[in-house]
Amino acid sequence: MDDELPTYPAGLRLSERRVVVVGGGHVAQRRVPQLIAAGADVHVVSPQVTPAIEGLAGAGEVTWHERGFEDTDLDDTWYCIAATDDGAVNEQVSAAAEVRRVFCVRSDDGTRATAWTPATGRHDGVTVAVLGNREPQRSARIRDEIVEQLREGTIAARRQRDRTPGVVLVGGGPGDPELISIAGRKALMDADVVVADRLAPRELLGDLPADVELVDVAKLPRGRSAQQEEINRVIVERALAGKRVVRFKGGDSFVFGRGYEEVLACREAGVPVTVIPGISSPVGVPAVVGIPVTHRGVAHEFTVLSGHLPPGHPESLTHWPAVAQLTGTLVLMMAVENAPAIATALLDGGRDPSTPVGVVCDGTMPAERTVLATLGTLAEELAAQDVRPPAIIVVGDVVAVAHPEHFADH
Ligand SMILES: C[S@@+](CC[C@H](N)C(=O)[O-])C[C@H]1O[C@@H](n2cnc3c(N)ncnc32)[C@H](O)[C@@H]1O
Repeated sequence: MDDELPTYPAGLRLSERRVVVVGGGHVAQRRVPQLIAAGADVHVVSPQVTPAIEGLAGAGEVTWHERGFEDTDLDDTWYCIAATDDGAVNEQVSAAAEVRRVFCVRSDDGTRATAWTPATGRHDGVTVAVLGNREPQRSARIRDEIVEQLREGTIAARRQRDRTPGVVLVGGGPGDPELISIAGRKALMDADVVVADRLAPRELLGDLPADVELVDVAKLPRGRSAQQEEINRVIVERALAGKRVVRFKGGDSFVFGRGYEEVLACREAGVPVTVIPGISSPVGVPAVVGIPVTHRGVAHEFTVLSGHLPPGHPESLTHWPAVAQLTGTLVLMMAVENAPAIATALLDGGRDPSTPVGVVCDGTMPAERTVLATLGTLAEELAAQDVRPPAIIVVGDVVAVAHPEHFADH
């Protein structure tokens, strides 16, 4: 498949549907048996065919039209394969297919096709199909490896999945679906029910089998405690009904994720609960943009803080004057709104206004960007750059280590 052309993989039900293969050589010979196996009404159009195709025609498994291609061959057709060794004929097949809205595979030039044949294999009721027509041999090797591993059990097919009822808390990482752990991915594929947070890597939800119940937390009743109570109720209720429930969160479930409240709710109800850790955003997000939270000779500690309450708020458990005295890196989460007040508290506590600050928005996701400032300019930079959550704010000299050009005077 051409890398530049977006494609949509799909399975086709061809049973008793007319499929036309133009050409009777070795490409056709490889494709025809698969079409017959799919139950298609296969028509081969070609003046000559290989002995194998001739045999299939003789046995009545395909209809052989012993002549050159005519556009009307594609009337009432669902799918066709242009597999001659003559580019002009293949082009004519493509054109006739396009007019009739028939998907057409091209054996000579995949970039001119509207469909591609994957390398396929089957194991235990599962079809493995690998597309990559620029490198068909590589696709075939990948297919072979996957089928082999399915057979060996290295890859667990859905039928062998863990069906033990209970709740698994899965930390999905900061957003990029590649950054979930292998254990987390497996847990997702084993789930009967997935209860997903807004910040969990949602692209992975598209891979869930169709029979999995998906509960979107963003759609539950509003209000922090009402929502949490409802989540606790849903996960406990489903697990008690014998389901395997994955509670799917962004980052790590125990880092400002209220995960332990869910553990307690499960324990109280006698529901078994396990935890699969995730890459937490205060470490993972700076890392992907090249900011180290510690660096030898610069920062020997880092402190992760929630900024969801402003300094001085009666419910805040953070003693900001003490935080200002720390010499290591500060990583602020949920702090965009209160960042100006936090910067003021740190400056009041003795931090230097020239302290470097890096704000990473939408880390690991397509809209990712980094805004650089100092403690003294943070409030105005956040407003000027229109910074919105989710963002991680890193305060400390490690930001200058990563961006020496920006903080040359520091
Ligand atoms: C409710 S907390 C959840 C944190 C999560 N449990 C973790 O371990 O990363 C949400 C905050 O995490 C930070 N955050 C999470 N994902 C982020 C991302 N991809 N980019 C930047 N910040 C992120 C932001 O500070 C956001 O306000």
